[in-house]
Amino acid sequence: MSKQYRITLLPGDGIGPEIMAVTVAVLKQVGSQLNVGFEFQEALIGGAAIDATGNPLPDETLEICRNSDAVLLAAIGGYKWDNLPRHQRPETGLLGLRAGLGLFANLRPAQILPQLIDASSLKREVVEDVDMMVVRELTGGIYFGQPKGIFETETGEKRGVNTMVYSESEIDRIGRVAFETAQKRGGKLCSVDKANVLDVSQLWRDRMIQLSSEYPDVELSHLYVDNAAMQLIRAPKQFDTIVTGNLFGDILSDAAAMLTGSIGMLPSASLGSTGPGVYEPVHGSAPDIAGQDKANPMAQVLSAAMMLRYGLNEPEAAYRLEQAVLKVLDAGYRTGDIMSDGMKQVGCQEMGQALMQALG
Ligand code: IPM
Ligand code: MG
Repeated sequence: MSKQYRITLLPGDGIGPEIMAVTVAVLKQVGSQLNVGFEFQEALIGGAAIDATGNPLPDETLEICRNSDAVLLAAIGGYKWDNLPRHQRPETGLLGLRAGLGLFANLRPAQILPQLIDASSLKREVVEDVDMMVVRELTGGIYFGQPKGIFETETGEKRGVNTMVYSESEIDRIGRVAFETAQKRGGKLCSVDKANVLDVSQLWRDRMIQLSSEYPDVELSHLYVDNAAMQLIRAPKQFDTIVTGNLFGDILSDAAAMLTGSIGMLPSASLGSTGPGVYEPVHGSAPDIAGQDKANPMAQVLSAAMMLRYGLNEPEAAYRLEQAVLKVLDAGYRTGDIMSDGMKQVGCQEMGQALMQALG
């Protein structure tokens, strides 16, 4: 093997293990074709980790992740763990992983594939050619701001508190990632905030304007988040690159994903300034179909492609995975989430076999 990469696998919960199995198989195949070696090490996160250790992010998992070249995560969460105290919930493990690895930049591409236009709930002319990138701040904002918690007041009434906070340096570092992303794409950056109401958003907007002087080749615009939500559905083609905070990015990236027909197709990359990135599908653990061989493994496979491209600098391997996905779609294979008339409905495993075949 000319190159050898250490990959941490975090299959997590729900459909996670099924889509991860398909992805590991295709990675091995593309690796053997291109003489790229992968050393996989599996670790626990989310509900699976709670069941085994009582902790959604065991120290050992974080340590294994830190010592690897990249982390491939499937999905976490499920009904079973929804009523545990917050520090024991699967989501807390995911947030701990993001914070622990310093993954402040979350890249969520939403590109419509011609093969899947009819799977979109919007009209063909609205979604045709949609190709955008949501750059979401991932380790700050209201997800992490202090104070937070449920507190009892003097009268005995409870108050729930979260704090939306961004410092200038936090805004600048995600801003730079976004401007650089826009430079490599269509050169347009739309910053989404709520500066008409929130002070934290006013600072966000001021910093984006300040930064834009360093990127004269990028055209910066601003939208309030409510309008951005509307524009995403009304006229999504106007967007090239979007940059926004943690909570707004969480919401808008699901909406952007759905333009493409199914959230089951979309990968993401979470990156810090140094160290391994985490590559994961935008979708969740889909507990309603877990273990039934119905899941769409493509977002996971495309996340592996993002890992190869952005994390390991293996663009040829990334390209082959992306092409395999397109080929399989061209051949008419569809999982339930992207099924349309005249196509061949398959389960997760059969989709995996079709991908292996397409890889050659
Ligand atoms: C996401 C998810 C997570 C988030 C949850 C599972 C904590 O919705 O990655 O978008 O809110 O960030
Ligand atoms: Mg989300």
